[in-house]
Parts: sequence; C-alpha cells; structure tokens
Amino acid sequence: MIGVFDSGLGGLTALKELRELMPNEDVVYFGDTARVPYGPRTPETIVSYAKQDVRFLSEFKPRAILAACGTVSSTAMDALGECFTTPIIGVVDATAQAAAEATKNGKIGIIGTAATIASRSYEKALSKLGDYTLTATPCPLFVPLVENGFTAPDCEITRLTVEHYLREIKAAGCDTLILGCTHYPIIAHHIAKALPGVTLINSGKSSAQAMKALCEGIPEGENTASVSYYVSDDKDGFIRQAELFLGHAADGEVRQIDITRY
Ligand code: DGL
Repeated sequence: MIGVFDSGLGGLTALKELRELMPNEDVVYFGDTARVPYGPRTPETIVSYAKQDVRFLSEFKPRAILAACGTVSSTAMDALGECFTTPIIGVVDATAQAAAEATKNGKIGIIGTAATIASRSYEKALSKLGDYTLTATPCPLFVPLVENGFTAPDCEITRLTVEHYLREIKAAGCDTLILGCTHYPIIAHHIAKALPGVTLINSGKSSAQAMKALCEGIPEGENTASVSYYVSDDKDGFIRQAELFLGHAADGEVRQIDITRY
C-alpha cells in the first residue's frame, strides 16, 4: 500500500500516473481540502499540516508515502524525515532530474506556489545536477483557478493570467518549464499555448516514476488494486472535481475525516 497526499486535489495528477505505473498497488489518497491552499502559508504551518497528513496516512501502514504537493516537498521534507520512519518522497528531486534531462539550451523555467518558489528548492536540486540558467516565478492565482474550475481551453481569465505570469520565463528563452505544483497539469494546455515549443515537466508524473523505483526496494504487502480517498472537507465537492484531475470519476470510496485530530 502506498500513501499519497496533497493540500487538495492537485496530488490526484500524481495518483493518476502512479496508478498507471503500479496498477496492482493499493493506494490511500488524502487531500487536505479543508486547509487548501498551503502555498501562501508559512513554512512552520506547512510543516505542521504535513506532519498531520503523514500521521493520518501512517495509520494504514503504507510501505512508502508520496508528498504529491510541490509546496510540502519544498518546505517540509527534512522535518518529515526526522519524524517518521516510513520512506517519504516529494516531487522536487525527480522533477528536477527530468528537467535537467529534457533541456537542450540549459535554460529552465520553474513555476510553483509562493512557498515553493521562496524555498528555492528547485534551484538547490538543479545545482546538484549541472549548470543551468533558471528563471523562477510564483503563480499564486493558478491553484484557485484550478480548484474553482477555470480550466477550459477557451477560458479567457486563465489565458490572461497564464500569459501574465509566464512573461519573464518566455523572455528568458527557457526551453523547459517545471510545473512545480501538482495542480498545474490541469491548465497545461494554457501554459503550452503561452510558451510554444517549450517542454513542460509534470511533477506528478516524475514523482510517480520515482515512487515506482523506490518501491522496488521495499517488500510488498497484500494488494487488491484498490484506491481509497480521504478528504478533510466536503466529500461531495471532491467527488465533483476529482474527474477533472483523474480523467475519470473517483474509483473508490471517498470519506471525510477530521485531520486536526492527528
Ligand atoms: N498542489 C500543491 C502543490 O503542488 C499546491 C496547492 C496549494 O497551494 O496548496 O504545491
């Protein structure tokens, strides 16, 4: 069993990839929908929320946990590593690696929440992989746009917002762009339109591949290929929106829990 969590629905983009790569594995997903977004919060708050999320998932005795949230991955991994013995990986290292492999001109753009960009997590990860010219831009309006369903290809509000945030990355001539937040693949069509010819790196996909590799070294429990979903707020809202992220309706029971108890 693998645990996956995010501040909300964005981590479902990683869950979708994980299900394709490890179709037999049981997965428990937790979306902290009562406290999303994490991105504008302080590192201290993000760490305390992430610890509660991991404590909750630990009840299922997972063999590994994926923090499918760029914000948690950028600010809380050291704290989580000190607190828990279950292997926990985030999205940053695998995504940085994929970007380093993809770039031809060495110019990489990074977009993420305010907390992710302020942490400079991607700069640190990429500095270990080579010499790259990086342009990083926080895009705080992207998560609310996605969570509120402003995702259609003809949505003018999202088109203008995307163009606004990506101006600097476009001017810098980046050939590769890290989607440093797991919500962003949902508006990748807008991002691709604003940056024609640029390779988009999906952090959900890269981290799912990293989880598969990690699990090769950890014994498997009994699996029934099931998925269970847990949220900390209204489950009907989650069920309505999940399809957008998964490409199909939530294929498992959805339950609401009180995350503040953990
Ligand atoms: N999905 C989260 C991430 O990848 C962001 C959403 C939030 O701000 O909570 O950073």
